[in-house]
Amino acid sequence: MTARDQLSTPLIRLSEYRAPAWRVERIELEFDLGIDATEVFSRLHLRRDPMQDAPLRLDGERLELLSVTLDGEALDAARYRQSNESLEVDGARDGSVLETRVRLAPAANTALEGLYLSGSRDAGFLLTQCEAEGFRHITFFPDRPDVLASYTVTLRADKARFPVLLAGGNPDGAGELGDGRHWARFVDPHPKPSYLFALVAGRLEKIERGYVTADGRSVRLVMWSEANVIDRCHYAMDALERSMRWDEKTYGRQYDLDVFHVVATHDFNMGAMENKGLNIFNAKYLLADPDSTTDDEYRAVEAVVAHEYFHNWSGNRVTCRDWFQLSLKEGLTVFREQQFSADMNSRALKRIEDVALLRRAQFPEDAGPLAHPVRPAQYSEINNFYTATVYEKGAELVRMIAGRLGQEGFRRGMDWYFARHDGQAATIEDFLTALGEANDTDLSPYLAWYVQAGTPRLRANGRYDAARREYVLTLAQHTPPTPGQAEKQPLPIPVKLALFARDGRMLPLHVDGHPHSGDDELVVVVDQAEQRIVFREVDAEPVPSLLRGFSAPVMLEGLDTAADLALLLRHDPDGFNRWQAGQQLAVCAYEALRDQRQAEAVDAWCDALAGLFGEEAVDAALLAELMTPPGEVELAEREQAADPDRIHAARQALQRRLAERIGIDALMARYDILAGTTSGELDAESQARRRLKRRVLDLLALLDASRAQVLAARQYETSPGMTDRLAALSVLVRTDAPQAAPALAHFRTRYADNPLALDKWFSVQTQRAGEPALTTVQALERDPAFTLRNPNRVNALFGAWARNNPSGFHRADGAGYRLLAERLAELDALNPQIAARLATVLNGWRRLEPGRRARAKEAVEALAARDGLSRNLSEIVQSMLHD
Ligand code: TRP
Ligand code: ZN
Repeated sequence: MTARDQLSTPLIRLSEYRAPAWRVERIELEFDLGIDATEVFSRLHLRRDPMQDAPLRLDGERLELLSVTLDGEALDAARYRQSNESLEVDGARDGSVLETRVRLAPAANTALEGLYLSGSRDAGFLLTQCEAEGFRHITFFPDRPDVLASYTVTLRADKARFPVLLAGGNPDGAGELGDGRHWARFVDPHPKPSYLFALVAGRLEKIERGYVTADGRSVRLVMWSEANVIDRCHYAMDALERSMRWDEKTYGRQYDLDVFHVVATHDFNMGAMENKGLNIFNAKYLLADPDSTTDDEYRAVEAVVAHEYFHNWSGNRVTCRDWFQLSLKEGLTVFREQQFSADMNSRALKRIEDVALLRRAQFPEDAGPLAHPVRPAQYSEINNFYTATVYEKGAELVRMIAGRLGQEGFRRGMDWYFARHDGQAATIEDFLTALGEANDTDLSPYLAWYVQAGTPRLRANGRYDAARREYVLTLAQHTPPTPGQAEKQPLPIPVKLALFARDGRMLPLHVDGHPHSGDDELVVVVDQAEQRIVFREVDAEPVPSLLRGFSAPVMLEGLDTAADLALLLRHDPDGFNRWQAGQQLAVCAYEALRDQRQAEAVDAWCDALAGLFGEEAVDAALLAELMTPPGEVELAEREQAADPDRIHAARQALQRRLAERIGIDALMARYDILAGTTSGELDAESQARRRLKRRVLDLLALLDASRAQVLAARQYETSPGMTDRLAALSVLVRTDAPQAAPALAHFRTRYADNPLALDKWFSVQTQRAGEPALTTVQALERDPAFTLRNPNRVNALFGAWARNNPSGFHRADGAGYRLLAERLAELDALNPQIAARLATVLNGWRRLEPGRRARAKEAVEALAARDGLSRNLSEIVQSMLHD
């Protein structure tokens, strides 16, 4: 079968949604667990929709069927039909009980979907991953999220090999079986979709803590991991408790089972999974200790723990009707996590990081061949739609709606949404309707944001009329076409704005008819193709600050004169907006350098930052972000024929100009102060100093590499924590320092038994710019610790190289593309989800300069022409070719 034939795998369409003809009210599952063979017995209590007369058809893939029994009668093969993906059974009626027995081979499961083995045969443990469609790899079932069932799960296994047996829900008995085996039973009182089913079995250690919910229910919080890392779970446990308190206080949401289990695994396709009562985490987002975890990773652990916990309401109690509604749970839960993290840490920094992520990951997706709406209209492989668009843009849409309703109105709306749809499988329309109903507001115009792909461009124009003392702002919107959507509608775009006087003061805003006229900040909703806003009583030409707080996920164009942006960068009281202005100014400066134009923007950017650098009052972490121009990926996004070498060179040149402007003495002095005061502590102050120190060291390296290398080598040796150590190692690697090799060798030995730290050892080396990156990657592939079987390791090597090092990956000779395509094909045979996700790094190939574009196209075409590609990978490569 060729890839072309596989493309004919059916497209699933939202417009063809039908309610299930058969539901399962109750399921009893029994597992006889073993690493090579596991037997699964299932008893389904069926309900038939009287309005439909479809035969009973259950999903099930790669299941070895042992027996089928209907209403107590063993069926012979004439009474049922098994295909590659389903089981059809004759003679079922409303109320029928269907029993099946199947055999699975967990140790042979390299896709990490369904039931699989994490770790080695001797020491590893068994676990499941069911979202989105993994349950059909465990038993026959209507594996769709609108079938909610009550689960009773019994696990049986050898007690010595599998001393810990866990499933979602509340414990309901356990005991010995006499033959060295034991059993445990779990009952989940909350009906749930099959994608939230989970079990874990093996040798695991735990830490536990009691928790009393706001309404007085006692809950056991238990975190599980392999024995050698159990003391790295404490930070996550604290984060979990903070998340639970926050959700009680902010949304009135309480936990609803007697026990909450969280398990860490090193073998996981994504970040973590919100299985009801039994969250499973990629160890990367659960384990943390100062010796091996960076500050950024600590924040990521807190964020992912919160995200999964918040799903208990936004996703589990109210779930999705179908997978097109995925953002109903993911966009909403990302938004809730963003609010939580902002409350726990710095609000401005959190917003900066989230917007930077959106621009780096989602904007390119929305501008390329894989562009899709937050609620897609069709898919071939649902796993390909766990995207930055569904997650991050989805969160921005919830943020706009929350902003529209205000804090109290949004809370009222959420209360009503949870009350109205508790225990149901809902849609995005249900969400908008519930929020609107609770506020007597029609939110249906926002549905357009969910169904229309592409990043809107918002063009701003200002004209000052001195005679009338009026400032007229014109805002025009336009969304470029995306695959399958040539025509675009205007969307409601909330633009939060302010006007500044030349001395940096904010002006009161007088706009006729605006309910908040007179305030110094207003929100104007642009819902036409073009709109004019007239500000009255303006005494002199003002400087507009638009899209404050990134009030809508759009690209803003126009009104970007260097002097205006520099003024905002210096004076805007809001950290996010200040950064925003700085980024725009940095882009102007970068473009001037790239095109070898003389530009005031370069001086304006450097002068403003040098000024801020000298002021003690500016927060160190914010300063570090202000001093970082947009990344190479974001800069490439602005071009139609991108040359990554040229982009890298111009961005480096811009940073060198900044370093020169500040001066080596000032940089050295600041470095010394920061080095003298940093500790391994995790408080915000210490983290901020480490962040600035990293930035200063990077700038020093651009002025005097050997001096910076001496500092970096010392920093590597003396740092108490991973943040400083890795920052130092990174400088040594990227500047080709003589000290790099011994430091890398030291790191390799020191962390030989710590896979998460070793991942960083792989990643950091992929970041050498240009030519040397490829040979480095090839050498790392041959390291005995490298394996295509572990997703974290694959991402640490190939993901870091292809995603974060454009000049190292996008080689003019195309060797980067060829190596990647080769490995993608191998990886696809092991783990299609990971192969497909990694393949998206080639998403932007059409916007490369002609030579690279041709090489990239050849590599993608060669990959597409291979036999036997998975549905996952072939959907991605075909979409990339058929724009
Ligand atoms: N629902 C999970 C989350 O965002 C992510 C998820 C989706 C996932 N599919 C997965 C995790 C497959 C692991 C494997 O919280
Ligand atoms: Zn999620």
